[in-house]
Amino acid sequence: MNIKRAAVIGSGVMGSGIAAHFANDGIPVVLLDIPAKEGDDRSAIAKGALQKLLKADPAPFMHPKNAKLVTPGNLEDDLHLLADVDWIVEAIVENPAVKADLYNRIDPVRKEGSVVSSNTSTIPLGVLVEGQSEAFQRDFMITHFFNPPRYMRLLEIVGGDKTRADALAAVADVCDRQLGKGVVRCKDTPGFIANRIGVYWIQTAINAAVELGLTVEEADAVVGRPMGIPKTGVFGLVDLVGLDLMPHIAKSLLGTLPENDAYRSAFREHPVITRMIAEGYTGRKGKGGFYRLNRAGGGKVKEAIDLATGEYRRSDKPKLESVTAAGRDLKALAEFPDRTGQYARRVLAHTLAYAASLVPEIADSIVAVDEGMKLGYAWKQGPFELIDRLGTDWFAELCRSEGIPVPPLVEQAAGRPFYRVEDGKLQHLTTAGVYDTVVRPDGVLLLADVKRASKPVWKNGSASLWDIGDGVLCVEFTSKMNALDGDIMAAYGKAIGLIGDGKGAWKALVIHNEADNFSVGANLGLALFVLNIGLWPQIEEMVEAGQRTYRALKYAPFPVVAAPSGLALGGGCEILLHSDHVQAHAETYMGLVEVGVGLIPAWGGCTEMLARAAANPRAPKGPMPPIATAFETISLAKVAKSAAEAKDLMYLRPTDGITMNRDRLLADAKAKALELAANYSPPEKATYTLPGPTGTAALELFLEGFALQGKATPHDMVVCGKLAGVLTGGPKADVTQPVTEDQMLGLERKAFMELVRTDGTIDRIEHMLTTGKPLRN
Ligand code: NAI
Repeated sequence: MNIKRAAVIGSGVMGSGIAAHFANDGIPVVLLDIPAKEGDDRSAIAKGALQKLLKADPAPFMHPKNAKLVTPGNLEDDLHLLADVDWIVEAIVENPAVKADLYNRIDPVRKEGSVVSSNTSTIPLGVLVEGQSEAFQRDFMITHFFNPPRYMRLLEIVGGDKTRADALAAVADVCDRQLGKGVVRCKDTPGFIANRIGVYWIQTAINAAVELGLTVEEADAVVGRPMGIPKTGVFGLVDLVGLDLMPHIAKSLLGTLPENDAYRSAFREHPVITRMIAEGYTGRKGKGGFYRLNRAGGGKVKEAIDLATGEYRRSDKPKLESVTAAGRDLKALAEFPDRTGQYARRVLAHTLAYAASLVPEIADSIVAVDEGMKLGYAWKQGPFELIDRLGTDWFAELCRSEGIPVPPLVEQAAGRPFYRVEDGKLQHLTTAGVYDTVVRPDGVLLLADVKRASKPVWKNGSASLWDIGDGVLCVEFTSKMNALDGDIMAAYGKAIGLIGDGKGAWKALVIHNEADNFSVGANLGLALFVLNIGLWPQIEEMVEAGQRTYRALKYAPFPVVAAPSGLALGGGCEILLHSDHVQAHAETYMGLVEVGVGLIPAWGGCTEMLARAAANPRAPKGPMPPIATAFETISLAKVAKSAAEAKDLMYLRPTDGITMNRDRLLADAKAKALELAANYSPPEKATYTLPGPTGTAALELFLEGFALQGKATPHDMVVCGKLAGVLTGGPKADVTQPVTEDQMLGLERKAFMELVRTDGTIDRIEHMLTTGKPLRN
C-alpha cells in the first residue's frame, strides 16, 4: 500500500499538527473541519488552523512552503475530496458518538481499501468500530500521535480483531520511514502504553511530594536528572503539557481502566492544584504553573508554588545531599536516609512496579513498554531498563518494603536482568521467562548495537572509530556536548591513515553519533583558557590544524559522508560543509554561529559557503551576489531549523539527503558511502573570482546602514568588517586574478587571529561560556 495522498479530519491541536507533518514528508493532505457557523467562508476553521500552523513556535512545518501541500476545507462541501486519499486520520473531539457519526459519513465516500485511523487517546478501538461496516472495520486502526506531532517521536498503533494485517503493516511502515516515528504496537487497552504509565507516574510523584512534604523543586531535582525521567522533573513536565489536561485524562482513564487497577487507588485531587486550574494557572500556556517567571516591577524572578499553601514563593535551586552523594547511582539515591531518598524510593517502587505489572496486558514485550516511555515521555531509560539499574532482586525487595505486590514478571526474573548482552547482541526477557534477541526493524542500523557487538577500532578521549561493516569506518564524537578539540582532529587523522587510498580493507568514512546533538562546535572553554594566557601560536595552530584536517577529508581519495541530527553549529557545521555528501536527519539544526562569539568561521566555513553560493544556478551573474549571500548567512549567524531549511540556506546542497527517521540515518549514510565508493574521485580544487577592496567597501556600506538602524552593535561592525574582507578576497584581490582556496584559508586564519585578540571577542566568549547566550556588545 502506498500513501500518495492523505486526509486529516479535525483541525485542532492534533489534527493540524498531523496534517503539517504529512506535508513535511511531501504528502499532499486534505484538512477538514466542521463548516464555520459565522462569516461567509464555510472552511474558515480549517483555514484558520493552517494560518495558526504557520505562526506556531516551535514550527510544525519543517519548511513554510510545505503549507502549500495542505488543502483546507469543510466536512459538508468538501467530503468528496476523501475519495482520492489513501489514508484518513480522524482527530476530532474525544467523544465516541461524535466520532461514530463522522465515520458513518465518511465510509460511503472514501476510496475502497483506504485506511481510516483515529488519533483517540482514550476510546477503545472496540467501541469506535461498533456498528460500522465490515469493510470499515477491516480498514480501521488507531494511530496515536503525541503532541506536537512533528517533534514527539512516539506513534502508538493499535489494530482490532478485524483490522487487515497488511494495512496495519503498511501504515506502520509509512509512519516509520516517511513520518520518522518510533512506531510501537500496542494492545487495545486504556491509555495504551505511554499515557497509561505516564499518568500513573505523574500522579504518584505528585502524591508523594505532598505526603512527604517536599517542595516542587526538591521533587523535580530527584525525579529529573538522577532518574533520567525528563530533566524538567514531574512538575516542570506538567507545566509544559498543561495542568488542565490532567483531570480530563484522569476522568477518561477512571472510566475505562480495570476495576482493580492501581491507578484507581493512586488517584486523588489535590485542592491546591484544583484551585490553580480554576484560576487559570494552567502551566506555561496559562498565567503560570508550578513554576513561573514573575516579571512584576520589570524583573524576572523564578517562583514556585508552595504545595501546602498554594502561594508562589521565590524558587531556589535545591542542593540535595542525596542527589550529590548518589551521583549516577540510582540505588544509592533510593537508599539515602532522608525524605528525598524516601521520595525516590516511593516513586520508583510504585511507578516501575505498575509498569511491570502491565505486561502482557498492554504490550507483548517489555521492549515496547521501554520504547513507549522513552519516545513518548522523554525518559532516558524505560521502566525495565531502570529496574535493571536497581537490580531485579533489589527491586523486588523494594516493592516488599513499600508494601506493593511484586509484579509476576519481576518474580519470574528471579534476580536475572531484563536485558543482557549475549554474543554482542542485546536480548530481553520475554513473558515466558527466557531471553530473546531484540530485533530492530529492517534497515535500522544503530551505533549503539555496533558498540555492544564490538570494540572500537581506535579511540582517544574525545572520539572513537567504529567498524560499521562492509568496509565503512565511522567516527563518533564522545566529548562533552560533542565539542570539537584536538583529539577529534586526531581521530580524523587516524581514520584518514587507516582508510588510505580506499582500496584496502576500508572504503569510506561516515561521521555520525547518537547523542542529542551532532556537535555544538569548537570547545570554547579550551579556547578561552589558551587565550587568557596569550598563547597565540597555539591558537593559530588550532585553526590551522582544523583547516588541514577538514581539507584532508574533503580531498581524501575515499568518500566522506556525514550523518548529523540535532544541533550542528560552528565547527560542527563546517565539517558537514566539507563532506562529499551529507545524509541529514530531518531534525538537523545547522548554523555558522561564530559571529555570536566575535569570530568568523575559519575552518574553511567562509570559503565553502562562498563556493556554494557561487555554484547556485539561480544566483544573478557577477562576483557580488554570491558574496552577499554568504555574507548575510554568516553575519546574521543564521541557524536552519530543519534539514529542509538548511537546503535553503545552502548549508546543505540540493543533492544532500534527508532521512526522516533518526534510527535509519546511519544505514542511509552507510549505503550512500558505499554507493560513492564504487566509483569515487575527489572534488577538483576550486578558485574564486573576487572583487577585493571595492567589494569590501560595498559590504561595509551595507553594514553601516545596519548600524544606523541600530541592528548592528559596535563589535558586530568589527567582526563583520573582517568577514567582508575575507569573502571579497582580501586587499590584494581583483576580478582579473582568481583567488585560490589556499589563499582563502589564509584570509580566514588571519581574520580569525585578529579578532581573537580583541577585547570585544574575548568578552563575547566569556559571556557565552558563563550564560550560554551571545553578548551584544
Ligand atoms: P481539539 O479540541 O484541539 O480539536 C478538535 C477539532 O475537532 C476542532 O477543530 C473541532 O472543530 C473539530 N470537531 C469538533 N466536532 C467535530 C465534528 N463533529 N466533525 C469534525 N470535526 C469536529 O482537540 P485535539 O486536542 O486536537 O484532539 C483531537 C483528538 O486527538 C482527540 O481524539 C484526542 O483525544 C486526541 N489526542 C489529543 C492529544 C493532545 O495532546 N491534545 C494527544 C493525542 C491524541
